[in-house]
Amino acid sequence: MKSSILAVLGGASTALAAVRGFNYAAQEQTYDTFVSQFKTAASLSGASDFTSARLYTMIQDGTTDTPIDAIQAAIDTNTTLLLGLWASEDQASFDNELTALKSAISTYGSSFADLVVGISVGSEDLYRISPTGIAADSGAGQSPDTLVDYIGQVRSAISGTSLSSSPVGHVDTWNVYVNSSNSEVISNCDFLGLDEYPYYQTTDVNTIGNSSFLFFQAYEKVAAVAGGKPIWVTESGWPVSGPTSNDAVPSTADAETYWQGVACALENRGINFWWYILADSGSSPSFGVSSNGTPLYDLACNSTAGYTSTTASSSSASATGTASKNSSSATGSSSASATASNVTASGAAGVGSQAATSGASASGSATATGSAAAGASTASASTGGDTTATATGTETTATGSSGASAATFTGAASKAEGSMAGLAIGALVAALVL
Ligand SMILES: *[C@@H]1O[C@H](CO)[C@@H](O)[C@H](O)[C@H]1NC(C)=O
Ligand SMILES: *[C@@H]1O[C@H](CO)[C@@H](O)[C@H](O)[C@H]1NC(C)=O
Ligand SMILES: *[C@@H]1O[C@H](CO)[C@@H](O)[C@H](O)[C@H]1NC(C)=O
Ligand SMILES: *[C@@H]1O[C@H](CO)[C@@H](O)[C@H](O)[C@H]1NC(C)=O
Ligand SMILES: *[C@@H]1O[C@H](CO)[C@@H](O)[C@H](O)[C@H]1NC(C)=O
Ligand SMILES: *[C@@H]1O[C@H](CO)[C@@H](O)[C@H](O)[C@H]1NC(C)=O
Repeated sequence: MKSSILAVLGGASTALAAVRGFNYAAQEQTYDTFVSQFKTAASLSGASDFTSARLYTMIQDGTTDTPIDAIQAAIDTNTTLLLGLWASEDQASFDNELTALKSAISTYGSSFADLVVGISVGSEDLYRISPTGIAADSGAGQSPDTLVDYIGQVRSAISGTSLSSSPVGHVDTWNVYVNSSNSEVISNCDFLGLDEYPYYQTTDVNTIGNSSFLFFQAYEKVAAVAGGKPIWVTESGWPVSGPTSNDAVPSTADAETYWQGVACALENRGINFWWYILADSGSSPSFGVSSNGTPLYDLACNSTAGYTSTTASSSSASATGTASKNSSSATGSSSASATASNVTASGAAGVGSQAATSGASASGSATATGSAAAGASTASASTGGDTTATATGTETTATGSSGASAATFTGAASKAEGSMAGLAIGALVAALVL
């Protein structure tokens, strides 16, 4: 029996369409520098699909309210955009952001709108007014009430335009989102942008060895208050050089470890993310993943790369599916779920295809919640018409309850006419400890 399993993590059909990119500052940038960076990001060795740009402002550097040149550069390089409006200033300054947004809509039309992934109102504004932000002398922030007001102004500005269906959200740090004084901001967002750097978590054990744990712990804390809204990772990274930060020591090797643990987990789970940063040679700390267009370390993610936890308890999983087939082919879909006491898993999708002796094939996708460490599994499929095919089996592999679990279901199937030698459904389960 031959079988081949194609598996994707992180939410079935959306997984392969997830957005990946870098953050791009506005200062001293021109059309040419944006184009150059977007092209570099899109062709990085090992990570050639970083084709999205997160911006912090709508305004071109050196102007009052002219749309940022990154937009024309994005159109010319087919780069998607997470737009940003700087929100830590007064209404008069925010009006300039709104003017630039509206000009961009009228100037560039659908070629612009087609690239917009979302619109972020503000960046770490609530962090900067929190005790931690104030202690770090992080600059002017913004109150939750004003952010909610600004979010409403952006919704009004895009209403009835080509951007009317673009999600509007906010970007901030995890501790901001779990602070109930800011819940009004969450409820006014379509998505939550999360900036999360274990390097800066100086009151935690922020060794490189604990970095992926800290990252996903923060992600899950935000997920717990997000009310089901998508959480996009808008900034993360580990410096290749710079000062030690509690237990975190910058180095190229550790930056690679962090990339493999976090970026690859996000990629394999199909979560939108914008890494910090494509290049920043000379900065301290320096988070850049490349220099002169060349990666500083291995950016390739294989299908099993990424953080996995070893704290799994127990779980079981089951899958059921339906299939219809005629003498030459079969298609099917399946769903799987798993639960465990204090572990959550989300995403998880498996697509399995199998060629049977008759040339029949079956494919399915599965989503799972919960964790899977080990457990018996069954999969069944029944065909339409007068044919029946069933497959039962046990999980052959399952690893990690808070990382990635892979379960393969194999079995024999028979059919009234013709023959289908087998059916395989694969399910990968990504799970995270709460
Ligand atoms: C632009 O990129 C998208 C994927 O992000 C792709 O589907 C599309 O074909 C590209 N368009 C052009 C003109 O290259
Ligand atoms: C919680 O949020 C409010 C409003 O943003 C802020 O004033 C307060 O300092 C925050 N508290 C903590 C502990 O971060
Ligand atoms: C990881 O960090 C958390 C939070 O600081 C801490 O409780 C835990 O002990 C750390 N784990 C390791 C293995 O250092
Ligand atoms: C996948 O990448 C990880 C590092 O993220 C590595 O440890 C593992 O060996 C790789 N697996 C394969 C099959 O190459
Ligand atoms: C959650 O899982 C951890 C690790 O397995 C365990 O120590 C803890 O007791 C569990 N908590 C609950 C409420 O089950
Ligand atoms: C049998 O399946 C093939 C492939 O899906 C399809 O093209 C064909 O129309 C089907 N025939 C019948 C009788 O359903």
